Amino acid sequence: YTIYLDGLTGRVPSLPMSFAELERRAEAAMSPELWSYVAGGAGDERTQRANVTAFDGWGLMPRMLAGAAERDLSVELFGRRLPTPLLLAPVGVIGLCGDDGHGDLTTARAAGTMGVPMIASTLSQDPMEDVAAALGDTPGWFQLYPPNDRELTESLVHRAEAAGFTALVVTLDTLTLGWRPRDLALASFPQLAGECLANYLSDPVFRSRLAAPPEEDPQAATGLWATLFGNQRLSWDDLAWLRSLTSLPLLLKGICDPDDARRAVDGGVDGIYCSNHGGRQANGGLPALDCLPGVVDAVGDTPVVFDSGVRGGPDVVKALALGARAVAIGRPYAYGLAVGGQGGIEHVLRCLLAETDLTLAIDGYASVGALDRTALRRVR
Ligand code: FNR
Repeated sequence: YTIYLDGLTGRVPSLPMSFAELERRAEAAMSPELWSYVAGGAGDERTQRANVTAFDGWGLMPRMLAGAAERDLSVELFGRRLPTPLLLAPVGVIGLCGDDGHGDLTTARAAGTMGVPMIASTLSQDPMEDVAAALGDTPGWFQLYPPNDRELTESLVHRAEAAGFTALVVTLDTLTLGWRPRDLALASFPQLAGECLANYLSDPVFRSRLAAPPEEDPQAATGLWATLFGNQRLSWDDLAWLRSLTSLPLLLKGICDPDDARRAVDGGVDGIYCSNHGGRQANGGLPALDCLPGVVDAVGDTPVVFDSGVRGGPDVVKALALGARAVAIGRPYAYGLAVGGQGGIEHVLRCLLAETDLTLAIDGYASVGALDRTALRRVR
């Protein structure tokens, strides 16, 4: 109740209390190029919008006198108990949402303070080793965009293991970039991504591919990166090789089709990451939330992580009730960083956790484990 009681003495929060206000303030804090990159999506953005409105299609059934005075928000993932069901989704160029050129480290510190694991993107302003160190005791996962170069892929994965990341997320929906009109209009992506190549520039294999060190010829390094970034030829035949690269828990990100999910589990992955990249890749697709139950049903006990469109506590609860083991957010924390630095991310997480907790309390669910699909009804 502290936040309500503060109001009695005239104290009101200086940071935004609603997602709409957070979005408005983030836009004001960012350059037009950065805003178009972070807030934008593929095509006319109807899939991005549908990701958010899909949550309106489910209603939570409140249960009275259900003994939820104390709630347990913890979840178990890959043999670890995490204090909350939230994760920070990988956001390439998150660094640029901060104001000191080290926003990836700021994000890691916020994640560390809140005990919310950060999934560190391949596209980062700081090398993954520094990001892992800034997380402290909070686990971090490394997200890999598999480059078009096996030796470089292997090097990035081995570095992630050595740095102490506790899981590897391989993103499959970005083997080529989506059609993003806002980016195209302002040429945002090449400018912004070019500033987030620390994981490549610090990599011995990447450096060995260059005629001159990147410090001497940065343009050549960016050019090489552009040719190596995606790998459209990656196929299910490569899964055994990807699996062989690491003993860390391996998740595939971008899986929406139950058949793909089953195939991934048969191929030895440890987790499925159901996501449509926040509507940034293919427009015209299903809202990610509508894909979640089918993916969960296809994979038995294999944990499913979900993201795309989560904006508030009830959304977190609905995704968990549909079978997600944990729920990640992307844009909300990027906006938090732009608006308030480390404190801004922590604020976004605190608000989301408080609203998740209160939703469980008021609706009568004492733990994340008490949620299943009987908590939901379709809204007509
Ligand atoms: C992303 N996302 C992303 N995913 C990934 O696997 N690697 C990455 O580097 C990035 N980069 C990235 C940049 C920006 C600016 C955004 C907004 C998103 C996708 C991200 O992990 C996640 O799937 C979505 O952000 C989830 O949707 P919401 O929460 O933004 O609606």
